[in-house]
Formats: sequence, structure tokens, C-alpha cells
Amino acid sequence: SAAEKGGYDYFMLKEIAEQPKAVADTLLGRIDANGVLALDEVRIPSEVLREVHKIVIVACGTAYHAGMIAKYAIEHWTRIPCETELASEFRYRDPIMDRRTLVIAISQSGETMDTLMALRHAREQGAKVLAICNTNGSTIPRESDAVLYTHAGPEVAVASTKAFLTQLVACYLVALYLGQVRGTKWGDEIHAVVKELAAIGTQVEQVLATMEPVRELARGLADKNTVLFLGRHVGYPVALEGALKLKELAYMHAEGFAAGELKHGPIALIEEDLPVVVIVPSPRGRSVLHDKIVSNIQEIRARGARTIVIAEEGDEAVVPYADHLVRIPRTPTLLQPLVSAVPLQVFACELATARGNEVDQPRNLAKSVTVE
Ligand code: G6P
Repeated sequence: SAAEKGGYDYFMLKEIAEQPKAVADTLLGRIDANGVLALDEVRIPSEVLREVHKIVIVACGTAYHAGMIAKYAIEHWTRIPCETELASEFRYRDPIMDRRTLVIAISQSGETMDTLMALRHAREQGAKVLAICNTNGSTIPRESDAVLYTHAGPEVAVASTKAFLTQLVACYLVALYLGQVRGTKWGDEIHAVVKELAAIGTQVEQVLATMEPVRELARGLADKNTVLFLGRHVGYPVALEGALKLKELAYMHAEGFAAGELKHGPIALIEEDLPVVVIVPSPRGRSVLHDKIVSNIQEIRARGARTIVIAEEGDEAVVPYADHLVRIPRTPTLLQPLVSAVPLQVFACELATARGNEVDQPRNLAKSVTVE
């Protein structure tokens, strides 16, 4: 009913709008007044966490993209080798695990069969499993050694939005916590990032307040057949997520690429007026990445692409090459997905609406896939 949708036309719009609160709720009580992470609820003793020598993240769909982003954060802040794999692939390739392997299973519903089978297999091999889940008492957390719940509240729309952002928050919390427990050389950075993370809800709100031009742009692209997405570093999984949203909702051919791979194939797809969304890393910090992606934007634009550039405030280098420029607030590089994913959600939702599609219940899809 309209009341359930809180006055919005679709659950998806309501859930996109709820993201600042979902993010804040997921952080609540997990960072103390001194900026120290308090994750005692993760009942894996610190001694065990200090012994972990490998982390494997398993998930499906949007949760898998959260896991891909988590890999960058975990390896950087903890120096523990981390891989992220689709649950359906992981389970059947005889992966190597032992008692010092920590498997993180990410799932909104807690009922996805592929993810469940992967974690059962991991536990059989002696690995410890930590679930990141949005649904209290569901099967995946029940069968795991420990759980960190995301507090997104119920997500009704099939295409995941607020659950994704809170999965990211939970992954950052785990990465920063592991870094804190293990005392890596990134101590000061961890401390600074925890502070920025605590304030991220406000930045998500800022993004939401500036989405009208993105909706207008989306409506203008309703008759296109293809949209490409490019990103580097944590912007790469964001590109994959932007493309997934567009497939799910707009039923368009959409693909995400690592921008560095352009010259190895995707650039052959560029033709006159092809919309290409580019997620640009911050020019501060890892500026090498930024400069490379600016060249990529130049390259595709020279071949006729219509560039839709998502870049942080104050990044002037992208201006000459952006047919459409979407500004996002400044964040530490690793946290950028929390703000850069939001315009892509809005974009896909509006495109779907413009194409007359059923936003909350896309064809052929289910909210929770409980078969393998
Ligand atoms: C389905 C949903 C996706 C979701 C995926 C994983 O495909 O349509 O939105 O990302 O399952 O679901 P989970 O509940 O495990 O996060």
C-alpha cells in the first residue's frame, strides 16, 4: 500500500531515501566516544582474530560487490591476504582453507542457498565463518560462528540498495576492527577513517539532495540499448554494481569494466553517443589512479562516448571531458563507494520508470534465491 511505501511510488525509492539512517543505524554503538571500534558482539576471540592468515569473502549478486570492495579495505588495513569469490563458484572448486582461515559470508536475506552451501563447506574444512547479514535469526547467521548484523531494516524492493550500503559499512567495520586488533602500521589512518565513517550518513544525505539532474539524465537515455560503466580500485566494483542495477531494473545491456582493461577490449565497443558512466577516484591520496582514469575518459570521449562522470567536489581535472558531471562529497578513497553507488541506484531506478518497468518487482528476479 501507499502507506507502507511511506508516500513514495516504489519501495526502492523509499529504501534509497532511507540510506543515511540505515548507515547510521549500522554504525550505532559500534564506535565508542574515543573513536575505538567496539565489536564485542563478534564473538570470535581477539586471539583467534590475531591468528587469521587468510580471509575469503563469499556472496552473490549485490552482496558480492560489497565483498569485492571489502577486499581492498581488508588487505590495506589488516595486511591479511583476502579474496572475494562468488559463492556459487567458491563451493565447487575445492578451495584451500584451514583453521586460520576466516570466511565472511555476506547476505541481506540470510537465506541465499549458494552462500549457505559455501559457508557449510567452509566450516567442514575447519574455517571460521563470520556472517554479515540483515535478517535476524535467518539461516546464514544461525549456521555461522559469529554474525555482524547490518541494521538497514526490512528491504522490500528486489534490487538491493540500503542493504548494500550497510553491507559496506559492516565490511569497513570488520576491516578496521581487524586492523585495530592486530595493531598494523596503519593505526593513525584507521583512527582517522573511523571518524570519517562515523560522519558518512550526512554525506549520503548530501548526495540524495542533489539527484534531480541524475534523474533528468536517466529519462533522456530511456531509448538507449547499452550503457557501460568504468571504474578503478574500489570504483571497479561500484561500476559492476551500477551495471547490475541497470540490468535488473531497466532490462538494458549494461556492463562494468575495470578502466585499466579498456584497451584490452572494451574500447572496441565505444561508438558515437554511447553512454559511459565513469566513477573517478579522489585526486587526493592515490592520485596516480585519478590521473589514469582522466586519460581513460579522454580516450573514450575522443571516440564519441557520451561521458557521465562521477567525481568528487573540487576535482577540476575531469570538467573538460565530462558531458554530464555528477558531484559527490569528498571521502577517503576506500570509503568512496558509500557515496558513489547512490547516484547509480537513482539512475537505474529512474531509467526503469522511464521505460515503464515494474521497479520493485523486476521480471524473472526474486528477492531471495533459495535454490542453487
Ligand atoms: C538476489 C537479489 C539480489 C541480491 C542477491 C543476494 O539475486 O535479487 O538483490 O543481491 O540475491 O541476496 P542476499 O540476500 O544473499 O544478499
